[in-house]
Amino acid sequence: MSFVVAIDGPAGSGKGTITKIIAKNMGLVCVDTGAMYRSITLYMIRNNISLDDKEKIKVMLDNINIEFEKVQDQDIVLLDGENVTKEIREKAVNDLVSQVSHVIEIRENVTDLLRKIADGKKIIMEGRDIGTNVFPNADVKIYLDATPEERAKRRLKQNQEKGIDIPFEEILSNIIFRDNNDKTSKVAPLKQAEDAILVDSTNMTIPEVVEKIEMIIKDKMSQEV
Ligand code: DC
Repeated sequence: MSFVVAIDGPAGSGKGTITKIIAKNMGLVCVDTGAMYRSITLYMIRNNISLDDKEKIKVMLDNINIEFEKVQDQDIVLLDGENVTKEIREKAVNDLVSQVSHVIEIRENVTDLLRKIADGKKIIMEGRDIGTNVFPNADVKIYLDATPEERAKRRLKQNQEKGIDIPFEEILSNIIFRDNNDKTSKVAPLKQAEDAILVDSTNMTIPEVVEKIEMIIKDKMSQEV
């Protein structure tokens, strides 16, 4: 029997961090669905496939192989057997991934794949449309949010730790621009599912958010046994 926890929300809401911690604490398989779109984007860049080349996109989708593995406690992403965990976070991929994720054939293919991955497993999946589209019947649906200002502050801190110097105002306006794009997108817009529980992490620490969501999951698990 599958058990699916869907964690959706905008960029910078802390989904990635929170999902990994909960997966580890609760022994759930963790799937970062953004990493699938990122791997496909990398493949398209490497093979010079343009966004409107439906023919080549179809061939790619029939042949591409994306896997998630855990190696020495680290989650790694394999694209046709090659470890691309770092490369899929680089600028070239960042700049193109949103457009790639809006190609309808690619979305349908990723959605099918995610459903196959979850089959028979206890899983926690983070993304944008997991509770609304991929698993409308997920056992637990969380919509993780925070104000744009708080998300910009978090990104500023991350950047400073990496030695990247971008002014706060620029980060904030980029976040507001992306939110607007994501929410008004014709293909799978970002929105809270009607039956999702909203967790606003603006004034919460990571352990507080983890504890709150784990309580919701445990409660649901205890109802299902
Ligand atoms: O979460 P992320 O930044 O790794 O996501 C990369 C891109 O993929 C982002 O532009 C949104 C898109 N995405 C999506 O459209 N649907 C998902 N379920 C996950 C990510």
